[in-house]
Amino acid sequence: MISEKMEKAFNDQINKELYSEYLYLAMQAYFERLNLKGFVNWFTVQVQEEHAHAMGMFNYVHERGGEVELEAIEKPQTKWASPIACFEQVLEHEQFVTSRINALMDTADEVKDRAALSFLDWYLKEQVEEESNVGGVLATLKLIGDDKKALLMLDKELAARTFVQPVIG
Ligand code: FEO
Repeated sequence: MISEKMEKAFNDQINKELYSEYLYLAMQAYFERLNLKGFVNWFTVQVQEEHAHAMGMFNYVHERGGEVELEAIEKPQTKWASPIACFEQVLEHEQFVTSRINALMDTADEVKDRAALSFLDWYLKEQVEEESNVGGVLATLKLIGDDKKALLMLDKELAARTFVQPVIG
């Protein structure tokens, strides 16, 4: 049985993951407006990943005999000054999520929930990958600067990203 404190912490994080999904959907819409279909694809995959992250915790809370209580999802930002500004926010957001996963692990430590700690290990590794992936796109965007041709080449590259349903936990 999951402790009340741990259950609340997971419920908070489910909301954060669903907000991530919503934020990236807003970013997907932004790149639709720019007609950069490879970026649109990149965010389509990102949205699916965030949904999978939320569902991983949703299922885990139930598996541990807890209850999921969904909260309202905050309205995300809808406009960005440039693709760079957008990806700067993605990186900042992923760093924030990493800090939240660390805080969840601190709570698991506090209540001596070893099972939750082991479950959260997957999320910690995923965050390392997420930050590295996003940081890579951001670094390329900075190199590209105002070169439209190079931006289209990156767009083509991002069109190849595919979603793989993760096995969480
Ligand atoms: Fe669910 Fe992008 O972290």
